[in-house]
Amino acid sequence: MSTTATRNILVTSALPYANGAIHLGHLLEYIQTDIWVRFQKSRGQQCYYVCADDAHGTAIMLRAEQEGITSEALIERVSNDHQTDFARFGVGFDNYHSTHSTENRHFSEMIYKRLRDKGHIATRDIEQMFDPQKGLFLADRFIKGTCPKCGAEDQYGDNCEKCGATYTPADLVNPVSAISGATPEVRTSTHYFFKLPDFADFLQGWIDDGHVQPQIRNKLMEWFESGFNEWDISRDAPYFGFEIPDAPGKYFYVWLDAPIGYLASFKNLCDREGIDFDSFWDKGSDAEVYHFIGKDIVYFHALFWPAMLHGADLRTPTAVNCHGFLTVDGAKMSKSRGTFIKAATYADYLNPEYLRYYFAAKLTSKVDDLDLNLEDFAARVNSDLVGKVVNIASRCAGFVKKLGSGRLSSHCAEPQMVARFIAAGDDIAEDFEAREFSRAMRKIMELADEANTYIADKEPWALAKQDGRDAEVLDICSVGINLFRQLMVYLAPVVPAMAEEAREFLNVASLDWHTRQSVLTDHSINKFKPLMTRVERDKIDAMIEASKEDLVEEQKLKEVPKGPLVEDPIAEEIDFAAFAKVDLRIARIAKAEYVEGADKLLQLTLDLGGETRNVFSGIRSAYAPEALEGRLTVMVANLAPRKMRFGVSEGMVLASANEEGIYLLSPDTGAEPGQRVT
Ligand code: MSP
Ligand code: ZN
Repeated sequence: MSTTATRNILVTSALPYANGAIHLGHLLEYIQTDIWVRFQKSRGQQCYYVCADDAHGTAIMLRAEQEGITSEALIERVSNDHQTDFARFGVGFDNYHSTHSTENRHFSEMIYKRLRDKGHIATRDIEQMFDPQKGLFLADRFIKGTCPKCGAEDQYGDNCEKCGATYTPADLVNPVSAISGATPEVRTSTHYFFKLPDFADFLQGWIDDGHVQPQIRNKLMEWFESGFNEWDISRDAPYFGFEIPDAPGKYFYVWLDAPIGYLASFKNLCDREGIDFDSFWDKGSDAEVYHFIGKDIVYFHALFWPAMLHGADLRTPTAVNCHGFLTVDGAKMSKSRGTFIKAATYADYLNPEYLRYYFAAKLTSKVDDLDLNLEDFAARVNSDLVGKVVNIASRCAGFVKKLGSGRLSSHCAEPQMVARFIAAGDDIAEDFEAREFSRAMRKIMELADEANTYIADKEPWALAKQDGRDAEVLDICSVGINLFRQLMVYLAPVVPAMAEEAREFLNVASLDWHTRQSVLTDHSINKFKPLMTRVERDKIDAMIEASKEDLVEEQKLKEVPKGPLVEDPIAEEIDFAAFAKVDLRIARIAKAEYVEGADKLLQLTLDLGGETRNVFSGIRSAYAPEALEGRLTVMVANLAPRKMRFGVSEGMVLASANEEGIYLLSPDTGAEPGQRVT
């Protein structure tokens, strides 16, 4: 065990927005954080890892409205999806909460009131575009119009994609609301501001004090030089969020209560497990607090957040650890190329631990972008994890079973070599601590090379064929197993599922860092099972294809209001015989469910009076599943079954659609499931 005192550490990853699926870009962050947290826990530190969904804001409100469900129902569903995705990738949060929670309301109000009472909140009237049809103030990105500079149509409210001009929405020619199409009006409203300039001196000291990486410090210095503005922290109703305590009809802007969600999630954990919250967050706390974030949200975490905490008499973060962006095959993730890969799609085809290892092999403590090169990904995982690490165990396990009845030698034949592998753990630990995962992986693979060279030189398989050398063979292979065990201790934070299987094989209680100090002698091991199989190129290709399909699904969803249910609304004339071929039946919707990974579909179980059918229907934007169950409708019962990614669709239900919505057909009361419709 380490001799120094146990550290108390709180770690967070950024809170993902509750209106979209987790993709591989997000996972870079959650995997980086999770590896660091697992490393701390392996070292015996008291380390907590919390996260939450970022549930507030206009985008989420509008999305829920579009789906015909409440914001609460939307964030509940998305939170479940997010947690399922994270679990598949071994991201082991100690708590996953929501910013739409009582704890978050409490802390948001508390921090706001403390800032207000110290004079750090100002109010001011501002003019803003207002959608008179929706009754909604419009953020710049919700306004479209003609570029005042080059005349390009359909440009967003803050910049022109054609000529690159930047402007304010008021400058647009013929502005329209991107939500309703109505012409926006300029209206005045009172907004609340956080007086960031009050904290200029404090922040200057804070960023000079080693809490951010050097690259980030440089960026922040640029911002300093251009001066700070007050930060607008209020939004007018209707808004999905928390109302400001002394300001009816005004809501906290989503980015005000989002980082406070870190406190809320941790408080929720503390209440459940009896942890002392204040000992982490009081000023002068000696606990450590780390935020892992992407480079796009530095401003919020390295300026607003420390200033808010400081102004509210809470401690500030020990460090904000910023990473770069993920690219795939050298380019920004692209939906049309199939490289915009959702976490769930990846996990349907490939082992999540391949990705964890690949990210680890490329991550440094810097802010540079990281490329997932799919060719290199397969080669790296196959050569390192399968070819080097697993190979050691698979070469040795059989001889231990055969010659030692599964028991390792009672003495260590290469004490110096094993000692060197143990000692290497100190250096490797420093790399993990400093988030230099790539360097740690390189060192681990160098050790794996050494272990393989040792076994290759000794040729136990050749010795085993000679008489009287069994003890020697067992000695060599016992050394090999011990070396493998050291490597798995070092890799466990990166590939926890594989490590768990290795732990069972090695028949040890734990692979925590300090356990490596004892050498395994006269120790029984369990039957060897392949711990990891090779990455197959056709699985990668299938994943890319499936990601392209995800795009098709999404595009269908966007088209829903325009009537995607009818391919061609003006059909050619047919005779009665042709019509009679269509087997229309009354159907009862026995069950309706969301389809994971399909934004537009519902899965319906239709009762045809004795027979049931499984049908996927693009009506999700208009109907909540609960609202459909029990309802009668009309279906085409003799449509050829269609294989979709989610299963086989055995027919279709009839509906009409226009700009406003989708209208499922229903028979008059009295109709019975299974009846023919003519
Ligand atoms: N909700 C805010 C964060 C609030 S934190 C108080 C948000 N959400 S997000 O879903 O857009 O992003 C979550 C995290 O994932 C961010 O740290 C973001 O930088 C990171 N990433 C999103 N896409 C990414 C890549 N393509 N590559 C690497 N990280 C990326 O921002
Ligand atoms: Zn332009």
